[in-house]
Amino acid sequence: MTSRPVDTQPDILAAADWIEIRRHLHRYPELSGEEYETTAYLKAVLEKIGVRIIDYGLKTGLVAEIGGGSGPIVALRADIDALPIQEETGLPYASQHPGRMHACGHDFHSAVLIGAAQTLKLRERELPGTIRLLFQPAEERAKGAKQLIAAGVLNGVEAIIGQHNKPDLPVGTIGVTSGPIMAASDGFTITVEGRATHAAVPENGIDPIVTAAQIVAALQTIPARSISAQERVVVSVTQIHAGNTWNVIPDRAVLNGTIRTFDENVHSRVHQRIAEIAAGVAAAHGATATVRWSGGPPPVVNDARLTRLAEQSAEALGLTVIGGITSPASEDFSFYQQQVPGVFLFVGTSGSQEWHHPSFDLDEAALPDTAALLADLAQRTLQGIQS
Ligand code: NI
Repeated sequence: MTSRPVDTQPDILAAADWIEIRRHLHRYPELSGEEYETTAYLKAVLEKIGVRIIDYGLKTGLVAEIGGGSGPIVALRADIDALPIQEETGLPYASQHPGRMHACGHDFHSAVLIGAAQTLKLRERELPGTIRLLFQPAEERAKGAKQLIAAGVLNGVEAIIGQHNKPDLPVGTIGVTSGPIMAASDGFTITVEGRATHAAVPENGIDPIVTAAQIVAALQTIPARSISAQERVVVSVTQIHAGNTWNVIPDRAVLNGTIRTFDENVHSRVHQRIAEIAAGVAAAHGATATVRWSGGPPPVVNDARLTRLAEQSAEALGLTVIGGITSPASEDFSFYQQQVPGVFLFVGTSGSQEWHHPSFDLDEAALPDTAALLADLAQRTLQGIQS
């Protein structure tokens, strides 16, 4: 019996392998905070290409580094989690997990970061510093970035770079904007307290359902009548709960919803108007209303200097830069940007459906260029810090 020495020579993955990695992740999606197999798989891939893993004691998610360990540190971030959606794409590599799907393209983001890691690994000797790779869990629940920051992944980091696929932009284009590019997201719950009564004698009670319905309608005047047309704001009521039978007017109605804003003044004005409308409409009916808020991520705000570097990288790679693209969706990448300057890019993926749709898909042709873009931008950023 003969034994072969362990092969320590790292493998080199090509663009076709990156696409296979994306398809593997797509087949086996895991929900926020449960990305155990995903983490193990990504770790194995990184070890295969000789990238060193750094232990931050994370339950899920992964941190790795490329570079000599001296000089500045620039972080590249991808999110890795999937959504509780039943896939309807019919793709040959569709989800094998019922009710779970990579419907936001975080499989693509992870594979892009592997591609960037491979590209940077091959240039490791030229790097004037260190690239820290963050494979972040639980983006969809806006928890992962905070967990990674608490674990210390930003220690020593001078700039951070992230990207999200964008189905409505064609492959070969990059959307990047200095300043706010994605919205702050806040959730609200409005509880309307009335007085229950038999449905046949409504004059004996205070109807919280009629009150709640008028609050819903009045909230729609906030974007139309309280905020300048120059600003961007969304107010959406997404749940109404009241009553449990057909012939009783209940005591209480509960509304849930969300607001999206890009600017701190607009944000506080919308909070104020929702409180005033809820209380005022309720008072007009003899009811009371209380508003509770659950804060989501702040807006994603791009650093001007890093935005310029991103534009230069994209142009150097022959990609078309589209300015002024923003999204009313939110992203917990913003929590990193509260700590260090960052830039978040939209990558055109020519999809037919928006994020979170059961038929969401993207054109994998965008993968190699996006990996090259992240690698180039990370290197440019390191050089910019050094000079
Ligand atoms: Ni996403």
